[in-house]
Amino acid sequence: MLKSFKSPCVIGIIGLGVGAFHLRNSLKFKNCKIKYICDVNKKKLLYYKKKFKINKATTNFDKVVNDKEVNTIIIASNDKDHFYQVSNSLKHNKHVFVEKPMCLSLKNLETIIKIKKNKPNLYISSNLVLRVHPFFEKLIREKKKLKKIYYLEGDYNYGRLDKLTKGWRGKIKDYSVILGGGIHLIDLILKIKEKKVKEIYTMSNKLISRKFKNYANDFAVSLLKFDDNSIAKISSNFSSPSDHHHIFNVYAQNTSFFYNRNKSEQYFRENENKSSIKLNYKYDNKTKGKMLLNFLSAISRKNSNLIISENELFYLMKICLFLVQSQKKNRIIKL
Ligand SMILES: NC(=O)c1ccc[n+]([C@@H]2O[C@H](COP(=O)([O-])OP(=O)(O)OC[C@H]3O[C@@H](n4cnc5c(N)ncnc54)[C@H](O)[C@@H]3O)[C@@H](O)[C@H]2O)c1
Repeated sequence: MLKSFKSPCVIGIIGLGVGAFHLRNSLKFKNCKIKYICDVNKKKLLYYKKKFKINKATTNFDKVVNDKEVNTIIIASNDKDHFYQVSNSLKHNKHVFVEKPMCLSLKNLETIIKIKKNKPNLYISSNLVLRVHPFFEKLIREKKKLKKIYYLEGDYNYGRLDKLTKGWRGKIKDYSVILGGGIHLIDLILKIKEKKVKEIYTMSNKLISRKFKNYANDFAVSLLKFDDNSIAKISSNFSSPSDHHHIFNVYAQNTSFFYNRNKSEQYFRENENKSSIKLNYKYDNKTKGKMLLNFLSAISRKNSNLIISENELFYLMKICLFLVQSQKKNRIIKL
């Protein structure tokens, strides 16, 4: 087994919220060593250092990135720190796995793309975790069977408004629910359509969290129009008093999919006949860990089989950041 590995991963993990989940998953990966964990919260840091017997624990990201033995950085810190951490990791020749969103402005995205262009041997990926959900994985795999997709819609129902009104998210100036949630569904839509987007528009409000005056809008609806005139609509809904879930519908000439809470229904139209099938899916933590394992495996085997390619990732970020711009300017943007 180990013979097929070419390059071991020596890892530093930054941020130990969802980063602790990445820590557990990395420990399961044979060809890697976790050299550092890093968190500004000392209590958390010491807890995980002891629990998993990690070599080094630090509150200082720069210490991790300056260590020459480390070749891989997993970033799961506060969104506002991602740009600094991604760009510096790449500059120091580290492979990067970054939680969404990779950065918060188009200018920062351009800088990252520029740095990455000069580092063709480095891998970069992001935890767009719905790509490995069995329903979406199958939809992506079999998308060629869908003829003429003319409309897609996704609802990202966050169901955790207090993370916006009480945690660090609300403290980020102009925090975007598109970058914080809708991005997952926009990623799937771009992947399934595989067309360029030509027009975008976002409307938003904060009717539900309006007493938190300085905080960002908690609800946004975005529209995308593709080169072939097909249309997509995504809601990034942090305000919903519900569980955390996603709704995703695809309408094509020959078939329609309706997905909600791990259940899907597919309708077919052939000549004048209609039929349908219903399926259930299992989506557990083991499945959710696949994005990171795919990234570590690509580094180790030096292959290019990333679930999300670098170009897809940069294009996704570009579209999301233009949607944020459209929201701020309250106008349609032609790309
Ligand atoms: N892909 C997904 O489905 C998914 C799910 C949840 C969170 N996320 C993303 O993961 C990131 C973290 O979110 P979370 O929910 O784990 O938050 P969290 O608050 O639970 O955890 C973040 C941790 O990072 C630490 N931290 C913050 N800034 C730091 C810095 N500059 N250096 C070192 N440590 C730092 C904090 O002390 C905290 O322990 C965010 O970017 C978020 O968007 C992604």
